[in-house]
Amino acid sequence: MENLKDQFLLDPSIAYLNHGSYGACPRPVFDAYQAYQRELEREPASMLYRNFSSRIQKARERLSHFINCKSDQLAFVRNATYGMNMVAQSINLKQGDTVLATNYEYGAVERMWEIFCNERGARFVKVHMPLPHQDSKEIIQFFHDQIDSSVKVITFPHISAATAQLLPVRDLVNLAKSNNAISIIDGAHAPGQVKLNLEDIDADYYVGNCHKWMLSPKGVGFVYVSRKHENNIRPPAISWGNISSGNSSLLMENDWQGTTDISSILAVEDSIDFLNKNEWFHQVIPRCTELISNFNTAILEITGMKSLYKNNNFEPPQMRSFLLQEGDHSELHSRLFHESKVELPVFLDFDDAYFRVSIQAYNNHSDMERLVESLKKFL
Ligand SMILES: Cc1ncc(COP(=O)(O)O)c(C=O)c1O
Repeated sequence: MENLKDQFLLDPSIAYLNHGSYGACPRPVFDAYQAYQRELEREPASMLYRNFSSRIQKARERLSHFINCKSDQLAFVRNATYGMNMVAQSINLKQGDTVLATNYEYGAVERMWEIFCNERGARFVKVHMPLPHQDSKEIIQFFHDQIDSSVKVITFPHISAATAQLLPVRDLVNLAKSNNAISIIDGAHAPGQVKLNLEDIDADYYVGNCHKWMLSPKGVGFVYVSRKHENNIRPPAISWGNISSGNSSLLMENDWQGTTDISSILAVEDSIDFLNKNEWFHQVIPRCTELISNFNTAILEITGMKSLYKNNNFEPPQMRSFLLQEGDHSELHSRLFHESKVELPVFLDFDDAYFRVSIQAYNNHSDMERLVESLKKFL
């Protein structure tokens, strides 16, 4: 993977093992992004007035091929947080409704559900699912045990944030369907890390980021909406509502959100080109999986804790989380960064404490060795 390291703009002195929180954008994609910004400043009206619809449409088409859905079922948003808010605001939650989620939602998304449910008199229920998971049947059963006729929404991450679990999304969507509930998937970490097939998953709503594992510049994600709901969704900001090459409310309300810099949306095409050129799913991701797997045992020996994964069905290809022993870990993140130049998130806000390792094309053996040596010192 050494050859791809120089394709990124990252500080070479740091072992950056935190692509999961904030992805890094490769040079060719970043160059294209800056070229779009210069083009915008040269003739703003061309990009934002005359060519706006056709260029957004083209970007949408490229993305739709990458994640396998129809291009008019996608709207670009600035990030997954915004996308999840847009969906939650559109589903008309009412007094007495229940939203079922996992016990390891991303913190901001969990807060959002709590606020919406509180405001509308709905219940927000977190399904407790101890780790490691045995199999997908067990997960379905945990959800099943909480289902009653008040359940309007079943929501879950495709890949969870702090615990880095790859969930059986199709089975969970089917569970939602058979209980007449709306399925909403928070796919912030999935596009570009797992080969997505949104038609096959067939969720009501799927929200994803392009600026994480797809390597797009910061500020671009998407909302996929099934046909059933495509006319019942609108973003928090109401604008002209008539500037789009499509007809659904998904497109008419979203494409034009007022004057903004659409360069990161346009650069989604360039990031897909970069992934394709480097045979991402065939070459790069398997190497990332191998690198992280090679250090798994060494890390578990240092932490002295059980693995969060019983089998590799739940392992995301480029992320692993590790349990920390009971104790005060409030200094761990900052010691790793300041004393060892290792960038990695430590999660202390759950019942258990974790740290998460993300591996991307720019990481190599020595990054992981540095992590292992640092953990030996600090744990
Ligand atoms: C599962 C999950 N959902 C949503 C988000 C929010 O993504 P963003 O900050 O791009 O809105 C994250 C961020 O890491 C996440 O891990």
